[in-house]
Amino acid sequence: MPIILITGVSSGIGNALVRLVADKPGWTVIGTVRTVKPPTEYGLPDAAVLYAFEAGDPDAPAALAMKVLAEQGCPDVIVNNAGYVLYGPVEETPQARIRDLYQVNVFSPIALVQAFLPAMRERGSGVVANVTSLGGRLVFPFFSSYNSTKHAMEGYSEGLWHELKPFGIRVKAIEPGYVATPIYKAMDERAEPTGPYAPYVSAMNTFSDGVTKRSTPEQAAEETWRAISDTSDRLRYPIAAYARVLVRARKLVGDMAFMRFMHKQWIGK
Ligand SMILES: NC(=O)c1ccc[n+]([C@@H]2O[C@H](COP(=O)([O-])OP(=O)(O)OC[C@H]3O[C@@H](n4cnc5c(N)ncnc54)[C@H](OP(=O)(O)O)[C@@H]3O)[C@@H](O)[C@H]2O)c1
Repeated sequence: MPIILITGVSSGIGNALVRLVADKPGWTVIGTVRTVKPPTEYGLPDAAVLYAFEAGDPDAPAALAMKVLAEQGCPDVIVNNAGYVLYGPVEETPQARIRDLYQVNVFSPIALVQAFLPAMRERGSGVVANVTSLGGRLVFPFFSSYNSTKHAMEGYSEGLWHELKPFGIRVKAIEPGYVATPIYKAMDERAEPTGPYAPYVSAMNTFSDGVTKRSTPEQAAEETWRAISDTSDRLRYPIAAYARVLVRARKLVGDMAFMRFMHKQWIGK
């Protein structure tokens, strides 16, 4: 029976992906949550197998892999999905918060893949899917720290693609645009901007609030599943609202023209 392991399934894209794959005959679906409860309490089917995982803990990936390998066997598909957003001017973001963001969004998925690789490589098949972001292909102001973690995961995924290709393991970078999930609570709960960046943060807030077209987590999960199931060696999959069009536009007009145009939309000055 094929096994898929998805991190961060309490809500959003990961949650929808568990529900989607659990409906496919023959799949064992393993999800990670910070606190293990009966799957139904997360809106998941009883068949989903949940493991505790705190991505902010550097020892957690190896411990999780050891447990999963012993109790379930080697996953055929690993989806590094857990992650969160930091929003605000770089100058005002405490170092400790950036470090935690990198731990959760970058170091944790890298360590998880490392822990499973010996078993996957020996088997000679499998998929590593990293949920990066449209923000791994371009950068939004005041998302600099978050977007830089996603750029890191893009570069890492590309390197991994080269390294694992000879062993029959496919690497996929899933790049969602806008998906309506709780990840935006960081923005919804934002305080009124103050200080020298306030006018520009306000402008960006207004721009972001005006983005009304968002894919559902179910749509994003469907596209993610299509990417995972793609047996070609394609690496990058822009998915969900705005991703394909913005990636294409940047390619078409070039980096600087794209940045200047978007800067006007986002910040004005
Ligand atoms: N939504 C979008 O528009 C969008 C766009 C681009 C990329 N993405 C990426 O898509 C992925 C899924 O996000 P989502 O939109 O579905 O958001 P979400 O609903 O907030 O889901 C994020 C998941 O990650 C888990 N997580 C966060 N911090 C964690 C930690 N320290 N340890 C363990 N688990 C942790 C969350 O668990 P808790 O509930 O316990 O916090 C949750 O299960 C993320 O990597 C995100 O960066 C999303």
